[in-house]
Amino acid sequence: MQITSFKQYEEDYKKSVENPEQFWGEVAQNFQWRKPWFKVLSWNFQEPNIKWFEGAKLNITENCLDRHLATNGDKPAIIWEPNNPEEESVTYTYKMLHERVCRFANVLKRNGAKKGDRICIYMPMVPELAIAVLACARIGAVHSVIFGGFSAKSIADRINDSQCKLVITADGAYRGSKQIPLKDVIDDALIGCPTVEKCIVLTHVRTPVSMLKGRDVWWEDEVKHVNDICEAEEMDAEDMLFILYTSGSTGKPKGVVHTCGGYMVYAGYTFSNVFNYQPGEVYFCTADIGWITGHSYIVYGPLSQGATSLLFEGIPTYPTPSRFWDIIEKHKVNTLYTAPTAIRSLMSFGEEPLQGKDFSSIRVLGSVGEPINEEAWHWFDEKIGHGKAPIVDTWWQTETGGIMISPIATVTPTKPSFATLPLPGIQPILVDENGKEIEGNGVSGNLCIKFPWPGMLRTTYGDHERCKQTYFSAYENLYFTGDGCMRDEDGYYRITGRVDDVLNVSGHRIGTAEVENAINMHAGVIESAVVGYPHDVKGQGIYAFVINPEMHGEAELTKKDILQTVTRIIGAIAKPDKILFVSGLPKTRSGKIMRRILRKIAEGETTNLGDTSTLLDPAVVEEIIEAAKKI
Ligand code: WT7
Repeated sequence: MQITSFKQYEEDYKKSVENPEQFWGEVAQNFQWRKPWFKVLSWNFQEPNIKWFEGAKLNITENCLDRHLATNGDKPAIIWEPNNPEEESVTYTYKMLHERVCRFANVLKRNGAKKGDRICIYMPMVPELAIAVLACARIGAVHSVIFGGFSAKSIADRINDSQCKLVITADGAYRGSKQIPLKDVIDDALIGCPTVEKCIVLTHVRTPVSMLKGRDVWWEDEVKHVNDICEAEEMDAEDMLFILYTSGSTGKPKGVVHTCGGYMVYAGYTFSNVFNYQPGEVYFCTADIGWITGHSYIVYGPLSQGATSLLFEGIPTYPTPSRFWDIIEKHKVNTLYTAPTAIRSLMSFGEEPLQGKDFSSIRVLGSVGEPINEEAWHWFDEKIGHGKAPIVDTWWQTETGGIMISPIATVTPTKPSFATLPLPGIQPILVDENGKEIEGNGVSGNLCIKFPWPGMLRTTYGDHERCKQTYFSAYENLYFTGDGCMRDEDGYYRITGRVDDVLNVSGHRIGTAEVENAINMHAGVIESAVVGYPHDVKGQGIYAFVINPEMHGEAELTKKDILQTVTRIIGAIAKPDKILFVSGLPKTRSGKIMRRILRKIAEGETTNLGDTSTLLDPAVVEEIIEAAKKI
């Protein structure tokens, strides 16, 4: 199923559009099914109702583990590189990983987990995180992984939204020179989570934690009570595999739902093709498993293809900004898949951290999460790829399950800052505000997809209407991505960024409404408006305009209080970079905040603010501009 020439890409693409069912039916033959499907696809985008491989039975872990045992059992599945380079790295062969997953799957059962139960995972980037994820899938439980940077309140909201019965966590996590007290955070969260019956705690940083009798158990104790034989649960292709919460334009994150069959086929197919993975190669994706990139391209995609996936607990700059390059040298990494924000941050340290590092193993480079600017693209190409490694700029979303628009390494001619062409099976379309298709090349519009693909979301957990409203109602019969996009003279796609109220801060998706809600919880705050602004390293920074008359002259302290509040309510990742105190916000007569004006001010614009005639009080804009000049 690997595409090896541009001609083959064109042929496959044509076939995938003219006969999608035949195309995906053939791709799916490369996976292991307990029972075949009777229908490849049935769909409508109105409800929406999407079914891939209907009637088929499988377990994704048999594809990620069991099927490799006979031929590749002793091959490394996961190489773990710890936060501290002085500690030993750990390798799990497919045989070992299979054994650990089965054993932990039995631990889950022993603690009352059954098929269909939701299980929350809040863990550091350690092999046990991948083991926990796969163990859930093994028994047919639905995992909901929550990124380690979220607060207790965010965790509680997510646990309650999907009524999780079990939580898997660790005593703590390392992040550079810091330690994150994961279990403490979970303890705070669980005060408000009546559905949680058990919490399994892995020892990792060896910090003291409080273990609640009857609820909390140690991972290390539990595995002693079970054996390592665990038959995989037979799952329907359309049974739920996982929920992953993501931000949108409203204040409440939504649980994106992916199912077993289609997701597996799509993650595996795209992994194999986009990175042109070759047997024996070491593949290193620097994302966290708490995001979709980690789900699809650290765990499920690579393991379904029998690849060696490198998992790194630390951060790019600890203990030095050479950390990534040392890992590449040490493990002879062939593919590096990272985010533009990491590239820009490492660029800022200059040449020194690159001196004397061996990059000769690098064959393919990848970028994900946000638009990559040309400067970062060229730096990545020259300094890391030495001009010899194709860069795959992969555009996709939590909702799409896998990569959608991207070069295929060694096949698609690349162009700096372009995601280039749709993968086989993906039918992008640009539309104007009214949903009218914008045809031809050299055009821009809102990016939609007009035909289903196996990895697409099926619903948002517990609220199908919301799924319909968010993705399938903006334009009739289309999936709306929320992104703006340009298609150049060659038909190449370049993503220009979100067109909704969603920010992309260091590749993390944050809803402005969520941040506003958090700021508004601060006692003195009357109202706030949050917008994004261009940020050299983060891509976008968070700019908050805040009405707070109760500062008592202590503006700096109040700012810190607000940051603390946001950290409490959402997590440190959502902390505003700039806070500006104002006496009013620009509103229309109907009371709607005109963010367009605030966005311009945040970008540093002071004159061309566009039409302000509908404003209730135009004077407030002058005041904000003057105040903004001072921060
Ligand atoms: C949003 C999705 C895809 C996994 C990580 C983020 C932006 C993603 C690119 C890219 C330009 C990109 C889009 C998209 N985005 N990849 N290669 N070029 N923009 O997943 O949190 O669901 O965010 O990230 O705006 O809508 P996510």
